[in-house]
Amino acid sequence: MTAERARITVFDTTLRDGEQSPGCSMNQQEKLRLAHQLDRLGVDVIEAGFPIASDGDFESVRAIASVVRRPIIAGLARACRPDIERAWEALQHAARPRIHVFLATSDIHLQYKLRITRDQCVEQAREAIRLAKSLCDDVEFSPEDATRTEPEFLCRVLEAVVEAGATTLNIPDTVGYTVPSEFGALITTIRQRVKGIENVIISAHCHNDLGMAVANALAAVAAGARQVECTINGIGERAGNASLEEIVMAMRVRPDRYPYETGVVGDQIFASSQMLSEITGVPVQPNKAITGRNAFAHEAGIHQDGMLKNPLTYEIMTPQSVGVPDSKLVLGKHSGRHALSIRCEQLGYQFDRRALDDIYRRFVRLADKIKHVEDHHLLELIRDTHKPSGSATPLIEKIVPPQAAVVNAPVAEPTPEPSKPFPVGPQTNAFGVPLPVHGDAHHEQTQQEDYLWGV
Ligand code: KIV
Ligand code: ZN
Repeated sequence: MTAERARITVFDTTLRDGEQSPGCSMNQQEKLRLAHQLDRLGVDVIEAGFPIASDGDFESVRAIASVVRRPIIAGLARACRPDIERAWEALQHAARPRIHVFLATSDIHLQYKLRITRDQCVEQAREAIRLAKSLCDDVEFSPEDATRTEPEFLCRVLEAVVEAGATTLNIPDTVGYTVPSEFGALITTIRQRVKGIENVIISAHCHNDLGMAVANALAAVAAGARQVECTINGIGERAGNASLEEIVMAMRVRPDRYPYETGVVGDQIFASSQMLSEITGVPVQPNKAITGRNAFAHEAGIHQDGMLKNPLTYEIMTPQSVGVPDSKLVLGKHSGRHALSIRCEQLGYQFDRRALDDIYRRFVRLADKIKHVEDHHLLELIRDTHKPSGSATPLIEKIVPPQAAVVNAPVAEPTPEPSKPFPVGPQTNAFGVPLPVHGDAHHEQTQQEDYLWGV
């Protein structure tokens, strides 16, 4: 029997905190498009913007609130009347509106940014939540810079806003300063000390300045947080926010460690990432976990060989589970014969072992020069193999034309006697050591070679 998993609310802030990252601003039409995609992705809450920030932001929040009806639509507001009223104006026609109020609580913010005392901070937070609550049932409060706020004072503020009617308490690591053990402990402290905490949802909002946003968010969940705030591709202020796809997939791939569920539709993850990148013009970092173009690519021969034998050797989740069409074998100088022959087959060519060895040697020389061997290079290389002796191509070193056995090849070539030795020099491994060239021994040696050295 499997234990029941706690349901985690996914609060997507791509359109608000994400949009604050340089180069990621979006117009209303783009925000609407993305909001529909976030709906398809299955997020629970869409933070659609900061209505007081500009007329454009206001209109975007209003438009999203009126057409995207399943998820909760949140609008951000500072802890003051004009912000809260403007947020409500934008949200009031939403099927499920939420006002999200924030106020800094750390001494450094109170002293230098807001120039108010701790007592004034508590009162301002309380009044702001009362006002928000008079307009909307669903009210979230965020003590900005919570992780650099003295915990006792943080609990005092939180208690005041719970009493005033907040339904979600979001704990932001605004400057990406905390670490998982500390953040988890802070959530535990809040759960132990804040009166009325059992009636509200605790949320985590982590920034990635030390590269720990996702780890911190997961630590908060393990300590009892039941909402995570995150963005597609991890975009957001400075180094970004916790990445939605990484949090969700950590829970799916490691339910033994993270026994939690979300409503996210896995196979919409890649499409969401691609749409965001297309709209903003900001490419996804190639090695970005889950959504980067290399996340399911395997170049090293040893990896390619394993992948082709059984994907579980090097893949902890399938590309399909996050909506990536297929895993890609990148052909480069580390690639092996196995991957090369599969790609040749995909291009319509099937070679016997010796012919493949010949193609492979040419391929390695080429890969040394041009890094990634694309299909058109490979086709040129295959064609070159069939040219009469003496012809040359700009890319490929001239070698003795083989009499390869090619099945299904578009170019008609006489098929050689299978028993005839292949007319090229001795085979060598990746380190130039000659390999035996006869019969099965050669075949097996080469296979072992593929495995050992990934060539
Ligand atoms: O990082 C932060 O503190 C925020 C708040 C507005 C929640 O984005
Ligand atoms: Zn933030």
